[in-house]
Amino acid sequence: MHAIHQYQEFFITYLKKQNINKEPKNLYEPVDYILSLGGKRMRPVLTLLTAEVFDANYKNALPAAMAVEVFHNFSLVHDDIMDDAPLRRGEQTVHEKWNLNTGILSGDAMLILAYQYFEQYEPSIFRDLAKLFSRTALEVCEGQQWDVDFETRGDVTIPEYLKMIEYKTAVLVAAAMKMGAIIANTSEENANLIYDFGLHLGIAFQLQDDYLDAFGDPETFGKQVGGDIIENKKTYLFLKAVAFSDAKQAQELKDLFAIHSNDNVEKIHKAKTIFNQSGASVATQEAIKEFTFKAFETLEKMDIDSSKKQVLRSFGENLMGRKV
Ligand code: IPE
Ligand code: IPE
Ligand code: MG
Ligand code: MG
Ligand code: MG
Repeated sequence: MHAIHQYQEFFITYLKKQNINKEPKNLYEPVDYILSLGGKRMRPVLTLLTAEVFDANYKNALPAAMAVEVFHNFSLVHDDIMDDAPLRRGEQTVHEKWNLNTGILSGDAMLILAYQYFEQYEPSIFRDLAKLFSRTALEVCEGQQWDVDFETRGDVTIPEYLKMIEYKTAVLVAAAMKMGAIIANTSEENANLIYDFGLHLGIAFQLQDDYLDAFGDPETFGKQVGGDIIENKKTYLFLKAVAFSDAKQAQELKDLFAIHSNDNVEKIHKAKTIFNQSGASVATQEAIKEFTFKAFETLEKMDIDSSKKQVLRSFGENLMGRKV
């Protein structure tokens, strides 16, 4: 096993060796741009780490890790169009720096590019990886559609929200880990347990993403703080604030999240004040912990050394402390 920062370095070295910036420039430059902007590289690190948890060499997992990161970045390019987001990783989003059509087509190319990385595996591994990937990619689309549908609905429930974030975010974290398990040829039981671990961690991760979207530090967050409030996203913060408020304030909040405001500074301030005063912020922090601990519970059932369980556990603990 290696340290997390080492997996990050292995992955970045591999990424830099890829010949991405080809002709036509207007198609591939945005691909290179978004992939080079950085980010935490959480998903590819999890693929490499999981391969080693199940006793394979991380090097065998590099193409799958790349597929996962390219797919993730594709989803961000299209997500930023859908969310009308100006900033990504502290820089202009692709559709802002180029234009909408570039964002669409470069994104499409990335989705295909991601699939191509699986071609490097022998047929039986290829089949398992491609099958998992196709299912996951479709689920991400389903989650993204719910996310958009919820913007214009006033009656979204917590279970609906949890299902939405499971699909748009958690399944990819889970699949990133299961791919490492597939490459390592571990038991089906272990592969399913690590998927479950990733799924719960992924739900906690998106809950925290929603929290940081409102309460992150604009200097370091890298995205537009308050973007979810501007776009009327029905996050856990919003849903809990409605649940914890009296009828009058709940209606006020629903009305605030039913229109596009001319004064976003004021809207963001109002929403954040209610999130804090209602207890929704604290409830969100608690939910992040709850789902992280649920992830840890699946570790108990896994047939691996306790030192490896500890590596996975500390990964989850560090994630809870993240600020970006
Ligand atoms: C952002 O993912 C999109 C979500 C699913 C919340 P990350 O927070 O992993 O983004 P990067 O790759 O580190 O920039
Ligand atoms: C992103 O959710 C999920 C996917 C990209 C599939 P968000 O819209 O919350 O992600 P950010 O906050 O823009 O990174
Ligand atoms: Mg977004
Ligand atoms: Mg989104
Ligand atoms: Mg977000």
